[in-house]
Amino acid sequence: MYAIIEVGYLLATISFLGGLKFMSSPKNAKTGNLIAAMGMVLAVVLTFVAAITATVPYTNLTIMFLAIAIGTLIGKRLSDKVEMTGMPQLVSLFNATGGGCAMLLGLVEANQMDITTSILGNQILLIAGLVTGAIALTGSIIAERKLAGKVKDRRSKSVIFSARILLGLMVLLPVLYFFGIIPIGFTAFMYVLATLAMVYGVLFVLPIGGADMPVVISLLNSITGIATAFAGFVYGNKAMIAGGIFVGAAGILLTLLMCKAMNRSLLKVLAGTFKKSKNGIVEEEQDIKEISISETAMSLSFAQKVAIVPGYGLAVAQAQHICGQLQQLLEKRHVGVDYIIHPVAGRMPGHMNVLLAEANVEYSHLKEMDEGNENMEQYDVVLVLGANDVVNPAAENNPDSPVYGMPIIRVYESKQVIVIKRSMNKGYAGVQNDLFGLDNCCILFGDAKVSLQEIVNQLKLI
Ligand code: TAP
Repeated sequence: MYAIIEVGYLLATISFLGGLKFMSSPKNAKTGNLIAAMGMVLAVVLTFVAAITATVPYTNLTIMFLAIAIGTLIGKRLSDKVEMTGMPQLVSLFNATGGGCAMLLGLVEANQMDITTSILGNQILLIAGLVTGAIALTGSIIAERKLAGKVKDRRSKSVIFSARILLGLMVLLPVLYFFGIIPIGFTAFMYVLATLAMVYGVLFVLPIGGADMPVVISLLNSITGIATAFAGFVYGNKAMIAGGIFVGAAGILLTLLMCKAMNRSLLKVLAGTFKKSKNGIVEEEQDIKEISISETAMSLSFAQKVAIVPGYGLAVAQAQHICGQLQQLLEKRHVGVDYIIHPVAGRMPGHMNVLLAEANVEYSHLKEMDEGNENMEQYDVVLVLGANDVVNPAAENNPDSPVYGMPIIRVYESKQVIVIKRSMNKGYAGVQNDLFGLDNCCILFGDAKVSLQEIVNQLKLI
């Protein structure tokens, strides 16, 4: 039986790897998710089989079964209910459960471990898993609360200082403990560490700006993966080790990619600093040109090539389906339509890809930022749908701007830009958009979904 279980864990590991490989392209991401989920189901079933064959008491098996059943029900309910715009919060909550799980494993194992006979390496792994898990638990909960707007940023020196002290303590205390300087039992010591790590998780996330929260969620995700891998080492469970390492590595890569796409260094994100304008933000008067629904419909129908640049507003308006309809209508009139996707458009990685996939937009229509920029002059009309910061030329030509250095979609190089937004409100970075004052740019004021519906209605009449 042992051999079968080990082979099964290996298969689960291979499916995690295969799942990740498939997830690297939007076209296959769904299949990748399914493959990895099947691997996870296999790993859970095998753990049950292993527990039964190891004659684990019936009560424990019942508790395990009930926990999985309740967790599955809650997870399904939350996933069914969540709006696309609430996805980062949900990811954060799920991540908290992973971290909490790693912490609890550390506490349970510490209770059963005989400190006099166990290997030092195992004790260190247990501590590492417990500490990282506890940080991920409370850090993710605070991240979720901040994203939901229930907890504000706390960038005071005392918060940052306390976090640093706690970090130092979490490194120092285990060293003192292993030298016998702290005279308490191992389990009690682990409870102390778990408490410190949970407080640290809160203090670590509190000062980080709301703008950087998705980056932090990705980092916490990575920390949970690492905590799982540590726990996997303690149990000698290969699927847990591999799964944890994959999550840890993928999380850290995503974190770095997001930082690069926002032109922010990870250190600055963690320090909670956001670049400020040198002399305060000087906002120039802009010559805003409004455009009407019928004029927009006309421009689109006479164009040969149209690009749609989606942003956060598309998610807010839930305009993806009507956007897909507009594309089909234009194509029927032999107008070529591309979507140009900025890597950090929206509020989470792949946000726009997910929305457009919901509307069954074919992947061949999606262009990455660089490809879109190379061919920008070919577009007769670029429709900016609820995007703002990711098309702001200030990122290229205003060194004082907080968004300076962030790569952008150069929509200003196209023949005509039509921006659909509700007001002159700013985007996420809170800065004026230099695009809006340019000669080839006009704004169609209104909710993206309502406006697109009206454009579609007009196009049907032309
Ligand atoms: P934003 O700059 O946030 O702009 C969103 C725009 O949508 C606003 O101009 C808003 O203007 C408009 N809008 C909101 N609701 C709308 C509705 N119902 N109908 C029409 N328009 C609506 O969005 P973006 O260009 O996608 O940029 C993303 C920002 O998020 C970047 O600054 C990026 O660095 C940051 N960020 C992204 C991520 C990831 S991973 N994606 C992570 C962290 C931070 P009105 O209010 O006037 O309508």
